[in-house]
Amino acid sequence: MALLDVRDLHVRGAAGDLLRGVDLSVGEHRRVAVLGPSGSGKSLTTAAVLGLLPPGLRAGGSVRLGGAEVLGVPAARRPARSRPGLVRQDSSGALHPLLPVGRQLALPVRARGRAARAQVLETLHALGFREPRRVAAALPSELSGGQRQRVCLALALATPSALLVADEPTTALDVVTQAGVLELLRERTGPAAGRALLLVTHDVAVAAALCEEVVVLDGGRVVEHAPLERVLRAPAHERTRELVAAARAVDAHLAALAAPAAAPGAARTGPRVAS
Ligand SMILES: Nc1ncnc2c1ncn2[C@@H]1O[C@H](COP(=O)(O)OP(=O)(O)OP(=O)(O)O)[C@@H](O)[C@H]1O
Ligand SMILES: [Mg+2]
Repeated sequence: MALLDVRDLHVRGAAGDLLRGVDLSVGEHRRVAVLGPSGSGKSLTTAAVLGLLPPGLRAGGSVRLGGAEVLGVPAARRPARSRPGLVRQDSSGALHPLLPVGRQLALPVRARGRAARAQVLETLHALGFREPRRVAAALPSELSGGQRQRVCLALALATPSALLVADEPTTALDVVTQAGVLELLRERTGPAAGRALLLVTHDVAVAAALCEEVVVLDGGRVVEHAPLERVLRAPAHERTRELVAAARAVDAHLAALAAPAAAPGAARTGPRVAS
């Protein structure tokens, strides 16, 4: 049985249909990427899964978490043990504004004592914070957007849950910090960690760093669902081809910039041969 099973998910707003029959599932310990261009419905899909749809939007279809139907049940009324860990795309409202970050991070792990708090500091360190204690003492408003996003990730990782839902967890980060965060996510999800991951991204390279399976959305519909390796090798849908080509173009551009410039005149004279 899948940990998360979404069937024929529809979301309607005043202006019409925003999601038009999304199907996806995440098996135990699996890592699945939801890929798609901006506005394709990725965040709405995760919001419907988590019971966090904004007022004014209506959902239909089915969302089963751990076998239980949860569609239409707001997050606050769901049993704590069945709530997935969550990293939101917009981290600004995700933390309590008046509680130091360290106290918020300690809440889910308090039952496990001092060792658990040390683990939180360790996680902050692994997320690229050079001074985890200073960050722990700060209020969310005293951190940058990328720092807040990493704190949200630390919070989600500290919460024991069989599924982590992360919506663009690395978009606010520089590439070095991003690489560290992806490494940590790889360690803390998957079979060895006993935790599944539903990762939302528009970046094929981020999906490729973490996931084995990809669901591609476009215009509120699933247009492709395949193993990641197949999507990279032979993307079937036009939108997927565009996303893969965009990621490859960045790589090719970097490779071209890094290639040694040809010596002036080299093309005309050809390689020098010892005589
Ligand atoms: N509260 C809302 N009311 C009405 N329409 C909405 C609402 N939230 C999102 N939408 C619309 O639903 C569509 C999908 O939005 P969604 O936030 O899921 O996109 P996304 O794929 O996450 O994009 P991005 O990559 O930019 O985050 C968009 O056309 C958006 O305008
Ligand atoms: Mg989004």
